[in-house]
Amino acid sequence: MKVSGKHYRTIWVNEDGWSVDLIDQRWLPHSFPVENVRTVEGIATAIRDMWVRGAPLIGVTAAYGVAIRMREDASDAALDAVWDELHATRPTAINLRWALDAMRDTLRPLPESERAAAAYARAAEIADEDVELNRAIGRHGLEIITEIARKKKPGEPVNILTHCNAGWLATVDYGTATSPIYLATEENIPVHVYVDETRPRNQGAHLTAWEMAGHGVPHTLVVDNAGGHLMQHGMVDMVIVGTDRTTANGDVCNKIGTYLKALAAKDNNVPFYVALPSPTIDWTVRDGVKEIPIEERSPDEVSLIWGCTEDGSVTQVRISPDETPAANPAFDVTPARLVAGLITERGVAEASAEGLAKLFPEKAKVAA
Ligand code: MRU
Repeated sequence: MKVSGKHYRTIWVNEDGWSVDLIDQRWLPHSFPVENVRTVEGIATAIRDMWVRGAPLIGVTAAYGVAIRMREDASDAALDAVWDELHATRPTAINLRWALDAMRDTLRPLPESERAAAAYARAAEIADEDVELNRAIGRHGLEIITEIARKKKPGEPVNILTHCNAGWLATVDYGTATSPIYLATEENIPVHVYVDETRPRNQGAHLTAWEMAGHGVPHTLVVDNAGGHLMQHGMVDMVIVGTDRTTANGDVCNKIGTYLKALAAKDNNVPFYVALPSPTIDWTVRDGVKEIPIEERSPDEVSLIWGCTEDGSVTQVRISPDETPAANPAFDVTPARLVAGLITERGVAEASAEGLAKLFPEKAKVAA
């Protein structure tokens, strides 16, 4: 997508041909730093400390981490060690394991002398594939938005609520939940987006709002607790969120607070959609609540909040007493029964084992 008129992806290979440039998202919307990462340790830090985040982008970043290691040491032992090191960075997004497996499956059969070049080629392929999957998700999601728009008065916007950032910043480009929104805007279908701030890290306020503003999409920032009220008053036509891991049964793990939005949506007959590329489906897991590991992040993310002062410096302030302990589960699971549909690259699936199996028979068969 464009930033100040220039096209960017979230990650790319530097002009030196091997190191990796990425947008350091920690400082958005206040500044837009691009960092150059030259080591596997740097890649691990970028994922763990959320310079990059969002399930698909975490996977692609890890793939480039493998490529960097193969350049230094292409042995089987190095391949296994880098898989372990990068897999340990964040536990919930399944795209991380998917991308690391894809890299290892490609590289293992090759002679060591060919592995580095093949690793960069495979990482680039995974990045390009992500863009294509997101565009396809956009086309299928657009059909849903168009259908809702058809029932509105001319010019009246389709009101969409989203949580966290499942935008182009969370992927290589386009985003998952935002892809249908960007396409609708291109097609001149009026949309308006309610952006949940998404405490504690405020991915909605910092990232989604910045994306919407950058692309001229009408939007309103709301506190996380506002969604139920908005839905009760008919102000939301649909919810679209992303996901870090969706089970073979259609349970959806996403940023903490997603489940509460799904409950409010169900109670108010607002359709709750989840946009996801197929690498986000964990075919080995059926019960999301019991089986998906939920990342526990630092309590400081709850007790301290980042913001920009009037002089433009970005700083952190404490919002609770020093001695108050905080807990920070980063994700929750929305049971499939609350999900109106899973918008994938192959179409919109019912959130159930049968629904997913219909669209991905080859994957479901192996998983059964
Ligand atoms: O902790 P984050 O910022 O990595 O969490 C991101 C999300 O929860 C996104 O909604 C999810 O990864 C889908 S991204 C297309």
